[in-house]
Amino acid sequence: MSQSVTTKTEQGLYVHPEALTAHLPALDYRDGALYMEQVSIDEVVKHYGTPCYVYSKQAILDVYQAYTTSFANLKHQICYAVKANSNLAVLGILAQAGAGFDIVSRGELMRVLAAGGKAERVVFSGVGKTYSEIEYALNQGIGCFNVESISELALINEVAKALDKTAPISLRVNPDVDAKTHPYISTGLKDNKFGISHENAVAVYEQAAQLAHIDIVGIDCHIGSQLTEVAPFVAALDKVIELIHSLRAKGIELRHIDLGGGLGVRYIDETPVSIETFAQALLPKLGELGLTVFFEPGRSIVANAGVLLTKVDVLKPTEHKNFAIVDAAMNDLIRPALYQAEMAVIPATLPKDGLDTDGTQPWDIVGAICETGDFLAKDRLLSLATGDILAITGAGAYGFTMSSNYNSRGRASEVMVADDKHQLIRKRETLESLYADEVLWQDK
Ligand SMILES: Cc1ncc(COP(=O)(O)O)c(C=O)c1O
Repeated sequence: MSQSVTTKTEQGLYVHPEALTAHLPALDYRDGALYMEQVSIDEVVKHYGTPCYVYSKQAILDVYQAYTTSFANLKHQICYAVKANSNLAVLGILAQAGAGFDIVSRGELMRVLAAGGKAERVVFSGVGKTYSEIEYALNQGIGCFNVESISELALINEVAKALDKTAPISLRVNPDVDAKTHPYISTGLKDNKFGISHENAVAVYEQAAQLAHIDIVGIDCHIGSQLTEVAPFVAALDKVIELIHSLRAKGIELRHIDLGGGLGVRYIDETPVSIETFAQALLPKLGELGLTVFFEPGRSIVANAGVLLTKVDVLKPTEHKNFAIVDAAMNDLIRPALYQAEMAVIPATLPKDGLDTDGTQPWDIVGAICETGDFLAKDRLLSLATGDILAITGAGAYGFTMSSNYNSRGRASEVMVADDKHQLIRKRETLESLYADEVLWQDK
């Protein structure tokens, strides 16, 4: 029987490093040293320092392949959600593997194109596309705009007319389904800002069909992120299928159905449905539609392919709490502060005297930023010394892309490993670069 991943005591949570890594394909311990693929984490730290994001090329491609294999019986397109991790190296390997992309800004589209992605395999999501973003996307030959409002529809028609083009669109419908995830990453409820309500969708499609520069190609929904159950996806699909039938009855034929992203991952001991189970639940219903199926997975492709490496700078035990102050902070990884996300923190080198809670103390792993919200993990049972290297796992998604320069901290370096090779894929930001575009006030 596999060892349980966590032990909870009154003091805090112990994450068994080897039990955790047994669930993370990219990572394992060899003689007590943490490896990603065939590269030791110590070697990465020696080359690139900390804080540093490290991604496994193979782990990313394996999940992408799991999607394409699971939906092999249907015509499908996996549009990787760029927002999860937009490093060019990540986009490049996915483009080479044949992925499409889900973008939410001109900047993301430019990255996709720079990484070798094809515009016609890109869907453009987001509630607030601007005139110039729409113009740029149309000029590049974007695959589809996922439209979220009537005014956006009118704007796309206007831009397409000005360019003498026709814009391919789908409507993002809001199926009013509870994704049962954190409220900040739940997007398919009536009172969320996203999409066009289920009740109004057919009428808006009818309006779209009247617009000379609009080509209706699909229907889209995305109900949230880090979903661990399949039921909300099935409920959303049922609602979308209802609409497809209503549209057909009105003579509006679609070419694709886009079910968005949202499949959850195991950060510590969650048990999300596998991609295979997800596919099995949806395939029978999708198969009957005869449409190409799009998905927009982000987190599930990259989260567990990545770690954030950080060094323990200061140990500060106090009467009430022990703080381990590390060189990464909320500016590097904001998920714990923003979503109360619990991420695993494991040592790069296992302590010699065993793998259980003996010898550990509860630590809050915190950054050096002037905010009480600046924590990466709370009440974790660890055996720590200054200079130790820690790996925060599950950091491949919504890690670097949500990082900032708060407190004038340069953003971390990013590294990719493949087999026994490692390569810098983004240089650590220099501090000078942080104010290079700023200008002193000039008294005239
Ligand atoms: C429209 C859309 N598609 C896809 C995604 C990707 O979701 P996830 O990373 O959970 O797969 C998001 C993220 O929230 C999104 O807003």
